[in-house]
Amino acid sequence: MTTAGPDELVIRRPDDWHVHLRDGPMLALAADQTARQFARAIVMPNLVPPVTTMAAAGAYRDRILAALPPERDFTPLMTAYLTDTIDPDEVAEGFARGFFTACKLYPAGATTNSDAGVTDVAMIHPVLERMQAIGMPLLVHGEVVSEDVDVFDREAVFIERVLTPLLSDFPNLKVVLEHITTSDAVQFVESSSANLAATITAHHLHMDRNDLFRGGLRPHAYCLPVAKRREHKGALRRAATSGNPKFFLGTDTAPHPKADKEADCGCAGIFSAPVALESYVRVFEEEDALDRFEAFASEFGPAFYGLPLNGSRVLLRRTAMTVPDLITRQDEQVVPFHAGETLGWKFEGVL
Ligand code: NCD
Ligand code: ZN
Repeated sequence: MTTAGPDELVIRRPDDWHVHLRDGPMLALAADQTARQFARAIVMPNLVPPVTTMAAAGAYRDRILAALPPERDFTPLMTAYLTDTIDPDEVAEGFARGFFTACKLYPAGATTNSDAGVTDVAMIHPVLERMQAIGMPLLVHGEVVSEDVDVFDREAVFIERVLTPLLSDFPNLKVVLEHITTSDAVQFVESSSANLAATITAHHLHMDRNDLFRGGLRPHAYCLPVAKRREHKGALRRAATSGNPKFFLGTDTAPHPKADKEADCGCAGIFSAPVALESYVRVFEEEDALDRFEAFASEFGPAFYGLPLNGSRVLLRRTAMTVPDLITRQDEQVVPFHAGETLGWKFEGVL
């Protein structure tokens, strides 16, 4: 980290280890907002139909790159969506040939476009064996979906019922527990082997479950896993700012059209890409840990994935920046995270 002046922060250009860039009319809006700030991003495969083949991943990567303005310097890292019937040969060949960087496990029914997800981890043991053998990371949406489990307990129960046995069956598999929301997850990751890491979103560092009901029902605060109690947020803030390399940046930016959020059955997902670095850096400043921000944002992710660090740098300036109420492009309208708030930092660009 360099401080170019008292109100400037220069860090190695970060990567985002968990994004939803969507497809169709939303893709150009979503991809550009991520590519503005981040050099690389792990692109989630929960399209309809899901990305399960090299051909689908390659075509999707091409659509992402074609949707970006030419000045963007951005590398999408593609993932395969695990289904009960996915072909282990396709996954392994896709990893070897650079089509896939990782595989994503969605428990069936857990979140947006997860209907084709895994019904029972036993179904994917053959593909997990292959991934373990070739060093291909498994990215996990860590929530059970059983009706008997309260929505606020789904992550903790997943750790106990699904993740613990999975890690003992595949001790050498590299696993990222995505978008963690509980102190249970923090403690589990801290006490597990170096093969288990976790991403932490900006919104889970800012919000607790009260924010869903602040003065009324707040659809733009709704995402999965849903925000938990205040003490869980505290545990996440301590983990993110601790300097432990097992915790790194993954926004889970997940745009949905404004009308689909403000509906009688509003979609889960928070669009944080437009203000991602401004949002995270504010947390590090509040926690008096600005000197640890660069490692969380730009070093620990590549180290876990075994990828090189980015060479370029970005400039953040300490200044009042009011977040727009709406991000639009052609007919698409999305409400960003922190809409209407004034943040104390502004992303000034890539140096
Ligand atoms: C994501 C989406 O909309 O694709 N939604 C969310 O609330 N995070 C899916 C996911 O990551 O669970
Ligand atoms: Zn996600």
